[in-house]
Amino acid sequence: MGIQWYPGHMAKARRVVSESAALADVILEVLDARVPYSSRNPDIDVILGQRPRLIVLNKADLADPAETEAWTNHLRELGWPAGPVDATSGRGVQAIVSAARGLMARKWEELEEQARAQGRTVRKRSVKALVVGIPNVGKSSLINRLGGEKHARVGAIPGITTGKQWVRVSKEFALMDVPGILWPKFEDQDVGYKLAMVGAIREEVLDPEPVAGRLLAFLLTHRPSLLAERYQLRRPPADWEAGLHEIARRRGYLLPGARVDSYKAAILILQEFRKGLLGRITLETVAEFGDRFRPRTGDSR
Ligand code: G4P
Repeated sequence: MGIQWYPGHMAKARRVVSESAALADVILEVLDARVPYSSRNPDIDVILGQRPRLIVLNKADLADPAETEAWTNHLRELGWPAGPVDATSGRGVQAIVSAARGLMARKWEELEEQARAQGRTVRKRSVKALVVGIPNVGKSSLINRLGGEKHARVGAIPGITTGKQWVRVSKEFALMDVPGILWPKFEDQDVGYKLAMVGAIREEVLDPEPVAGRLLAFLLTHRPSLLAERYQLRRPPADWEAGLHEIARRRGYLLPGARVDSYKAAILILQEFRKGLLGRITLETVAEFGDRFRPRTGDSR
């Protein structure tokens, strides 16, 4: 978290990721399972081209399991190998490694065929993978999970990727120890709010009240019972502002003059949402955002 993106940083990040990707056989693109569309770099297809790529829906422990399953199926139907992961507990990571090796199996066959035609032999080496994604999506956690804590460096900044190393995960699989860091679609306001809700954008950048307000509006429309349960609301509030005030009152967040401290309530709601205390919630459904993912074309499917 905390990277300020300027055109110079973006150009540099793009170059660094492209250079790292050129050394890898397969890319693990990490998205946040709660906001698969908003957590995706807008130029990823151009930056990485046809290189074999697997989509990791991370933080699946915080997302609605039914929605994550729908996203996984949808992405697979579009030709993107994909799978849910919880990098904190390690759930799903072995399936990702198997899928990455499966992706490479076809490439090895092609290489072997070419070599045979030329009277050569190829020696199979381990599959090399690069982890990429926007800040705070869980790239370092995934590398730590796969390679062991001692190998991964947390908090890398764009452009600083000297001394790349391969972390051996198994005999057949290795990971680059430094992830590729890409920028989000921050020019889209709706995306900015959602990234702020999930904690991928620094709090100081955005006022918590409208961010929490948008989250409340979403919950009032889609999951009203979650709010009522968590904050013991007697009936669903009419709108997000009423909700914020009601939650502040229930929690005793009062200011002098019998006013409610809605700012404090906003921070509470965001913190609790991010920790999963409101429930497992996905903000972007396949029905609404599924068609924003282009089908994977070309022979690396
Ligand atoms: P990055 O390299 O992509 O920038 O992300 P990083 O791994 O540093 O993870 C960002 C935050 O997300 C960390 O929390 C990390 O623990 C959390 N995280 C990563 N993967 C998962 C996951 O699958 N599930 C859940 N629930 N959380 C995940 P943090 O609050 O910044 O740090 P910390 O409290 O863990 O120290």
